[in-house]
Amino acid sequence: MAGQGGGLGIVERGLIAARGGTIVYAGPEAEALSFTAPDVVDCAGRWITPGLVDCHTHIVHGGNRAHEFELRLAGATYEELARAGGGIVSTMKATRAASEDELMASALPRVDALMAEGVTTLEVKSGYGLDRVAEMKSLKAARRLGEVRPLSVTTTFLGAHAMPPEAAGDKDAYISSVCRDMLPAVAASGLADAVDAFCDNIGFTPEQVARVFEAAKAHGLPVKLHAEQLSNQHGAALAARFGALSADHLEHIDEEGVLALAGAGTVAVLLPGAFYFVRETLKSPVEMMRRHGVHIALASDSNPGSCPLTSLLLAMNMAATLFRLTVDECLAGVTREAARALGRLDSVGTLEAGKSCDLAIWEIERPAELVYRMGFNPLHSRVWQGR
Ligand code: NIG
Ligand code: FE
Repeated sequence: MAGQGGGLGIVERGLIAARGGTIVYAGPEAEALSFTAPDVVDCAGRWITPGLVDCHTHIVHGGNRAHEFELRLAGATYEELARAGGGIVSTMKATRAASEDELMASALPRVDALMAEGVTTLEVKSGYGLDRVAEMKSLKAARRLGEVRPLSVTTTFLGAHAMPPEAAGDKDAYISSVCRDMLPAVAASGLADAVDAFCDNIGFTPEQVARVFEAAKAHGLPVKLHAEQLSNQHGAALAARFGALSADHLEHIDEEGVLALAGAGTVAVLLPGAFYFVRETLKSPVEMMRRHGVHIALASDSNPGSCPLTSLLLAMNMAATLFRLTVDECLAGVTREAARALGRLDSVGTLEAGKSCDLAIWEIERPAELVYRMGFNPLHSRVWQGR
């Protein structure tokens, strides 16, 4: 995955050497300096990729929304349920009712499912607490996932995700509490690595999001944005203007938005599981993104409402089948580009000296198998920080 050119940078008969959890060599075995290592693992012709990076999840939450799924099967839409007080707010109630321990315990089986397919870096958003106490509780639970599992966790504060009922519909006042109450507390406690918001007709306006982004910048936190998922609010251009790490979803993005992302180097994170599960019909303009040189990442968007998915392998298959991404784009999308979308390209996402020795070792004959299968897991083993 290393290097600037396209493609996967495949190395046949490769060797990876690590010391203290950090890669010191990755390349052809024949070109490696001779060294003695206490632990040599012969991967016997298997394929090694960087450990997978899931750069967009809402995996910490109370309850589930299977009942809303049934209502949608009977004809209700995702947007109607949200407007009727269900949706994110119903998960908010379950999240507020859960303890930090309970939130962590309920997230672990989902995290384990991702890890079983080679995930070594996981982004987790808050956004189901919607008040200071419950947002911080969610972020603490997220941080602890990385303490009880061999996995790097990055956290994102998503206070501007939806309106809590007590805000009584006053979005500007709620955004004030996000900026003046929640965000400073989250930043002071070091609980978030980035700040996200939901810019949409059922979320917040670009003006409201801009206030959140200003506050994030004031606290030295990078930003990312749920943009153009259900409508075009020109959120991608706003994100680009703030130098956002990523803009995510993007089914409704237009060419101006694509150009803005390209110009700012903001990664487009596609979430094919949400597209599928919400039965969206408009697709992201992938060809236009390619033409303008936008970096494209893929993520699970694991969440109880729009995408109860815990498989990056299936996300890749969906991205290829539904969005016509190539195999190379899919694989780069869950490694190098996902790392870029987290601002972590310096430490994960490719197999290069100086990066964390995070590996996924696969029982496959060619990389396309990782994208082609549905519901089959060919992971042989997983290495995180050299272990
Ligand atoms: O990424 N778009 C907003 N947030 C989530 C869905 C949250 C939910 O429905 O619980 C998403 O799709
Ligand atoms: Fe999301």
